[in-house]
Amino acid sequence: MTPASLRVTEQPGTVDGQLPPPFVHFPADLLAGSLGTLPPAAVALFTESWDDLPADAHLGTGTPYRFRRYSRFRILPDGGLERLPHVAFFQDRAVNKVNGGVGRLFAPLADAVAEGPALETVVRVLWERLPGPREGMDACGVHQIRVVATVDAEGHPAPEGVHQDGHCYVAQVLIRRENVEGADSRLYDLDRVPVHEALLTTPFETIVLDDRRVFHGVTPIRPAAGAGRGVRDMLLVDFFPFAGRPAREG
Ligand SMILES: [Fe+2]
Repeated sequence: MTPASLRVTEQPGTVDGQLPPPFVHFPADLLAGSLGTLPPAAVALFTESWDDLPADAHLGTGTPYRFRRYSRFRILPDGGLERLPHVAFFQDRAVNKVNGGVGRLFAPLADAVAEGPALETVVRVLWERLPGPREGMDACGVHQIRVVATVDAEGHPAPEGVHQDGHCYVAQVLIRRENVEGADSRLYDLDRVPVHEALLTTPFETIVLDDRRVFHGVTPIRPAAGAGRGVRDMLLVDFFPFAGRPAREG
């Protein structure tokens, strides 16, 4: 388990040429405080948009338990966002043995979300706090994901198990957790030795990781005792250099 000293809550950076720890776990206050400077209606529009996600058609299950949208953006020098053309989300089979090797076309983010101040604020705040150099990190992929669990079927936030995403940095932001048991977030070093375990419980609690230096996984979710249905909403932001994307995505 990770020593408390690695639960970094301040802005990391490269100091004297040394990389910081490969992940940072931010309490909810970081994003909640930044979003608190926006009109409440703009934040509500953002968080409530998870109620309007189409089913993930690439699950291979009869009853969908995962719902999602995906869009890509350029990150401008001032941290602003500029939406890129919509393309399929692609992961190499080497990093995703369940869904890798094929492009998965997800519905794009709603215009009001993609162009709203809440998403831009969240991405900018996290981009400024990557666990390592952000030089060249001028693009991102934004995933809105809802995983649902019922008494008949648990939900699998990451059916591929312990994995890397194939990006440079990945931010995992909890948006909503209702009537859920499970969903332990776990990080591993490159030898797959556990280095951090956390249960994200408060909206806007966030883990940002260097996808090149750690593996990650999350346990399945089940409805909490007495509940028929549990819901876990996440915002995932993949950071990468725009110039380094495979041609099939660009
Ligand atoms: Fe992942």
